[in-house]
Amino acid sequence: MSELNNIALQILSNGKGILAADESTGTMTKRLEGVNVPSTPENRMLFRETLFSSACMNDCIGGVILYDETIKQISSKKNKIPELISSMGPHPGIKVDTGAKVLAGSPNEKITEGLDGLRERLKEYQNLGAKFTKWRGVYSISKDYPSKLTLQSNAHALARYSALVQECNMVPIVEPELLMDGDHSAKDCYQKTSEVIQKCFDELIIHKIDLKGIILKPNMILAGNRSKNKIPNEEVAKLTLDCLRNSVPSEVPGIAFLSGGQSEIEATENLNLINKHNDTNFIMSYSYGRALQQSALKFWSKNIQDIEGTQKIFNHRAKMNTLAAQGKWSKEIENQ
Ligand code: G3H
Repeated sequence: MSELNNIALQILSNGKGILAADESTGTMTKRLEGVNVPSTPENRMLFRETLFSSACMNDCIGGVILYDETIKQISSKKNKIPELISSMGPHPGIKVDTGAKVLAGSPNEKITEGLDGLRERLKEYQNLGAKFTKWRGVYSISKDYPSKLTLQSNAHALARYSALVQECNMVPIVEPELLMDGDHSAKDCYQKTSEVIQKCFDELIIHKIDLKGIILKPNMILAGNRSKNKIPNEEVAKLTLDCLRNSVPSEVPGIAFLSGGQSEIEATENLNLINKHNDTNFIMSYSYGRALQQSALKFWSKNIQDIEGTQKIFNHRAKMNTLAAQGKWSKEIENQ
């Protein structure tokens, strides 16, 4: 087994999933201000440190994706953040893209930037303890989108990123996210997600990526958030499995879904159904941001010194998703 394959499996085996705590300072500011907490470096650290020192880090979370600010911070107990995370069990990881910008040639779409100087930044992050990385390509769905141009350019960037990451002996998370925004049907989401993922793998193969040493982070197949034709969760699970079975090469060890604006319970329930019906060899787990942190953040914002209460909520959410990643979650267990 290659070293990269081993790391990918350590992150996702036995129902473990990924905590996506890689919100940029801008996004984290929106989240904190949304619950009336000032977005200072200290507050950003305090919330994240509270999550990183929770009990579930040991039995539910296999990897934590950090943002540049966080990977360089020191906790209130004077621990380096990547060291705090690995002492709890998970591998520390890092978001390395520098965000999605307007795509020249198709101004309603985005291209993710961050390749310039990436080789050097990866060395720095590796020295700070990172074992894996994340890069997110973002696509809108409508009649004309994603265009051929964005399909090609984002897949190319994801492949060049992955090659540099594997050269530096880290596992790349490849995240092509088709947004939920819009009135598109689940069928549109299915077709366009299949096309995007297939294009990404075409490019990954051209760039000689070791597919056993990556993790795919896709969206689930859902109708748009303004669609009048929502589909039942069972259908979400079946379409998602069908799409991935037909577009992901069998060498890929694991798939970790993003939550993408689903509620906490919806994201857990859909993951559970996917695993109940999973007839593939892929591990199907989670790499959730909002769907792991929302309730914990709301509770914490009421009293930012209540570490124990906040951790209780976060532990529960992580445990529910780890059960879902094994098809063992139920509404009864959720409400116990
Ligand atoms: O890139 C997206 C994040 O890592 C996952 O966030 O689960 O809130 O969509 P989300």
